[in-house]
Amino acid sequence: MRMSIILGSLLFWGLSAFAASNTCIECHTDELDKPFKHKAAVEDCSSCHDPDHEVRTGHPYRLYEATNKLCLKCHEFRPGFPSYGNASVGHPIDGHPTSRMKDPLHPEREFNCISCHNPHSSKMETLFRYDYSKNSVYQGHLCAVCHWNIIFVGEPPTPPPWHQ
Ligand code: HEC
Ligand code: HEC
Ligand code: HEC
Ligand code: HEC
Ligand code: HEC
Repeated sequence: MRMSIILGSLLFWGLSAFAASNTCIECHTDELDKPFKHKAAVEDCSSCHDPDHEVRTGHPYRLYEATNKLCLKCHEFRPGFPSYGNASVGHPIDGHPTSRMKDPLHPEREFNCISCHNPHSSKMETLFRYDYSKNSVYQGHLCAVCHWNIIFVGEPPTPPPWHQ
């Protein structure tokens, strides 16, 4: 028992001393295991997470900021569509809403950048979170993942799981 406490303390000391990604993925093996990888996560996990497992940052998963604020440290945004209010954050490409509502697929979550992007790695280009490929139920239509009825008729399928 005592031995494992000592090992545990050494482990946490080790984590705060070496914050580089490659030490993190020794244990967190799933984060970068998909083909399209976020450059920020490959380079340094601690650009978004406090590396010290005992620290509480006031945000879930020891993130330094609320998710959108974190992403917008490095990425541009546009003003949102007027119907969502001037303060809403629009997508860097087309102004699509990125805040101020619930995630339609996972209503227990806020809608934000990671409702569409995996912050670590993904099977799909541009880190899109869900598989919408031709062989999937969405038949290649990315937008249909949330806006089913712009492409298909009838009831939408069961929402895909958060972790793919
Ligand atoms: C020796 C193994 C190990 C290493 C190395 C490691 N972690 Fe962890 N990490 C864990 C374990 C076990 C948990 C789950 C228990 C916990 O929350 O402390 C965890 C949890 C987490 C969580 C989730 C916390 C939560 O609130 O659920 C994040 C984020 C995280 N680690 C990030 C990192 C980062 C960033 C690094 C590199 C700086 C890192 N980890 C290195 C083992 C490790
Ligand atoms: C660009 C910012 C960013 C970087 C860099 C980043 N993460 Fe994360 N990570 C996030 C966000 C945002 C979440 C929260 C997901 C949520 O709300 O469910 C998260 C969640 C996690 C979790 C909790 C489980 C999960 O996947 O939801 C772990 C563990 C984790 N990250 C580990 C890592 C490791 C290891 C690295 C480096 C390889 C890393 N992160 C780099 C933003 C980042
Ligand atoms: C520390 C800086 C940093 C942070 C924070 C950050 N990113 Fe990035 N992101 C990058 C870099 C660097 C690239 C690669 C740009 C390039 O290759 O031109 C990138 C690329 C991307 C891409 C394009 C990937 C591709 O393959 O085309 C997406 C999508 C993305 N980031 C989403 C996010 C999201 C979502 C968040 C918040 C969870 C976030 N980023 C936070 C630095 C960051
Ligand atoms: C409704 C889904 C959705 C949300 C929410 C979303 N994105 Fe995207 N994002 C996309 C799609 C789809 C693409 C690919 C667009 C394309 O290639 O034309 C993309 C592309 C990107 C790129 C790559 C740009 C490039 O030049 O290749 C970055 C960076 C990015 N998003 C950042 C963000 C950030 C930051 C947020 C939160 C403020 C965010 N995204 C929220 C769907 C979304
Ligand atoms: C992860 C879910 C998600 C994906 C994927 C997604 N959207 Fe959205 N979209 C939303 C949410 C949430 C809203 C805001 C609430 C609403 O109007 O349903 C929205 C709103 C919109 C609006 C504004 C509607 C209005 O009444 O103002 C348009 C236009 C739109 N999306 C187009 C697209 C297009 C085009 C794509 C594919 C590139 C796409 N969306 C992908 C979730 C998503």
